[in-house]
Parts: sequence; structure tokens; C-alpha cells
Amino acid sequence: MGTGGLCVSAINSKAAGTVHRLDTAGAKNSALPTLIAAVLNGGRADLYGVPHVSDVENLLKLLERLGATASRQMRADGMLNLSITADRIDTTKLTNDLMKTTRGSVLVLGPLLARKRKCCIAKPGGCSIGKRPIDLHLAALASMGAKITELGEEIYADAPSGLHGADIDFPIKTVTGTENLMMAATLANGKTILKNAALEPEITDLGNFLNQMGARITGHGTDIITIEGVTNLSGTEYTIMTDRIEAGSYMIAAAVSGNIVDVMGGDFRSLLPGFIPKMEGAGVEFEDLDNGLRVKGPDRFRAVEIDTAPHPGFPTDLQPQMMAMLCLADGESIIRENIWENRFMHVAELNRMGANITIDGPVARIRPVKQLYGTTVTATDLRAAFALIVAAIAARGETIIKGVHHLDRGYSCVKEKLAACGLNIERIM
Ligand code: EPU
Repeated sequence: MGTGGLCVSAINSKAAGTVHRLDTAGAKNSALPTLIAAVLNGGRADLYGVPHVSDVENLLKLLERLGATASRQMRADGMLNLSITADRIDTTKLTNDLMKTTRGSVLVLGPLLARKRKCCIAKPGGCSIGKRPIDLHLAALASMGAKITELGEEIYADAPSGLHGADIDFPIKTVTGTENLMMAATLANGKTILKNAALEPEITDLGNFLNQMGARITGHGTDIITIEGVTNLSGTEYTIMTDRIEAGSYMIAAAVSGNIVDVMGGDFRSLLPGFIPKMEGAGVEFEDLDNGLRVKGPDRFRAVEIDTAPHPGFPTDLQPQMMAMLCLADGESIIRENIWENRFMHVAELNRMGANITIDGPVARIRPVKQLYGTTVTATDLRAAFALIVAAIAARGETIIKGVHHLDRGYSCVKEKLAACGLNIERIM
């Protein structure tokens, strides 16, 4: 991990008919809440298959600042096994430097309030993809009895008599909001019902982990989740679910490269129900394998229309990568970004590589071009960074991608994984 660049000069080391194999890592967006859930537990949590990405490292530092201990074991496959013990929590105050390193840090609010009955965090703030408010997390915690005070850049939350169960109806679906409230309600007094809960598979994974520690949660994976509060949790062992967004990113890279790649690690048709049909619509062929999909791109992609939406819709976290692929489709594709108000930062960079994309509010129109061309481009966020890799694979000539620290937040072993797909990439320090 670091702040250097990537050099992509396409690159196929394929022999005709070769089938490549890519194994996906554990999911970043499941690992982040699961690591923090260890704060609820006075025992030891052993977590297996955690992705080695900087967002995870930053959350581990945050847990250590709170007083937890975390031991890390690097595995031969590049993932981590972690042992987290949070029998002591020394502080309930988290300052700016830790809160700003990853948006996932907001997930500490529910567990700290539930276990220590108070906490103070710096406001996580916006990021390049949008304003990212947490008003729904705060309102829901207030309905469980927390007194919330916002003082400048700090948020104080207090529940001196502990949190109590509540009926919470989220006005819109929020992934980390649902996770924060599930964790808070685990140690609350009485029953909490979360309505219009988010449906992402990572929420199901968190619920399964919490239940394994002794929580009493039902309905996770549906839009009504019920949590019966318990007084304490115990240690457990847990394997993090596969990273469906990483899998989808490499399916796009494989399709653009023309190589045949087996993307392994899960039932991706059910984990990515909004994405796989759109890929098929664009001409990508999938063959079902035991625990994976064989991916083969077409000679020429077809245009498709995409609306990003909460699960089971098309995931916003695959929108930039898919847009890069569609630059070379026959006909005009349309993408409406309905989750984040500023997730088109990659468009200017793709256009610098020869794409023809225009933006009108939340709508991007991707018109066909014959060829993309390598140049120097800059990644502005995690998924935009992978979109530029996709474009670089398709491009003629060499592409230099700057700002790859964004990529390191959520993708591990990128050079090795692209090599496994038959593609070459160099890291320039
Ligand atoms: N929202 C509010 N108020 C809130 C919370 C959310 O208005 O209190 C709005 C947001 O502004 C957004 C919508 O609700 O328009 C959905 O946001 P959500 O809360 O679901 O997003 P998140 O929980 O902050 C997670 C992922 C993101 C992913 C989104 C949507 C994690 C750690 N992050 O964010 O992942 O884009 O859900 O699926 O799970 C990424 O991995 O690249 C990434 C950005």
C-alpha cells in the first residue's frame, strides 16, 4: 500500500483458450462492521478471511485506540486472520484524525453507545462521492433513548440508563445505518424492530456474526429486522463473506480483456442480482461453476441502461467500472446514479482517455467510441480507481494511474489478481 502510481500497458499474456482463475477476498464492507462489532463483546473474536486493505488497517488502529487488542496473521492467499479482544475499552472519545481516515468509522457509534452508554465522535464528514450525512443513524439512536448533542465538529451521544428497544422505520434504506442500529440494539433493553432495513448481503453477514456471539437477531436480509436485546455476548470464530464488489470488478476487467476468467468465491448470481443480468445485456457470457462464474466478454459490447439502486438493484459500487466498460459498446448507454450525488468524478478521466461521456445531473450518457487511448489519469475514489484500470486494459498504449491510495482502501493484491486474469500491471513507487 502507498501513494504511488500504477502503470497499465495492455497486456494480455493469454494463450488462446486458456482459462484463468481468480479467487476473491473477504468483503471489505462486511469486514468493517464485523471488526467493530467486536467492541460489543468482552471475549475474543477470531475473524478469518479479512481483506488486507487500508480501510481495515485504519479501523484496527481505531479499535486499538479504544483499548482493544488486535493480532494479525497474514495468510498465503494475501488475506488476514485477526484476533480481536475488547475486554477493556479505555476511552469513548474518537478524534478527527481517526474518524476521517475511513467512513466506516461511523459504525463505532452504535456499539460504543450500547456497551459504554456514551461516546463522542468527530463528524465523519463528506467525501468525494457525496455529502454522506448520518442524520438517520442519529435519529434512530435517539429513538432508543440516546441524547445526541452536536457541538461544532463533534457529536456527543449519551444513554446513562442504557439504550432501550424501539420501533424504527428508516425513511430511506441505509446500509451502515442499518448495521449501526443492529449493533446498538443487540445490547439494548428490550425488542427493537428495524423497518425498511437495507438488504445488502453484508448486513446478513453481520447479523450472522452477531448471532454467533449470542445476539438474538431475526429477519436480517429482509427489510424488517427484529433484535431482542441481550445482556452480554461471548467470543466466537467467523469467516467473512466473499467480496461481491471485488468479484464484479474483476468480471468487468475480464470481459474487457477478452480473456476467459473463472471468478471464484461465491454464488454471484444471487449476490449480484442487479449486476449479472446487465452484464449479460451488454453481451458478456457467464457459465455457472461450483462456487463461481466463468466470464467471457464479447467482441463488441452492447449498450445498456442502468439505474443504481439499493440491493437487489444495480450496486452503485460497480457503476464506475461498468461505465468504463460501456465506453466501447455499440450504441449509447445511459447510467442514472441514484445513491451518491457526486459519483461521476471518473467521467472527466475517462474522457481524457478518449471516451465520449456527458453528464446531466444524475444521468450519464456514454456514446460509443472506437478506441480508448492510454494517458496519465488520476483516481478520485476507490471504485473510480478500478474503473480507470478497466479503461486502461481496453486502451491502446500505456496508462499511468495516479492516486492509487484510493484503490488500496478496498482492493488487495491488485497486481497479483490481474496477473491471475492474464493481465500485466506495474506499480510505480
Ligand atoms: N443517507 C442519508 N442519511 C443517513 C445515511 C444515509 O441521507 O443518515 C443517504 C446517503 O446520502 C445515500 C443513501 O442514504 O444517498 C444511502 O447511503 P448508505 O447509508 O446506504 O451508504 P453507507 O452506508 O454510507 C455503504 C457502503 C458504500 C456503498 C453504500 C451504498 C460501507 C462501509 N459503505 O455506505 O460503499 O456505496 O453503502 O451501497 O458499507 C464503497 O465500498 O466504495 C462504498 C462507498
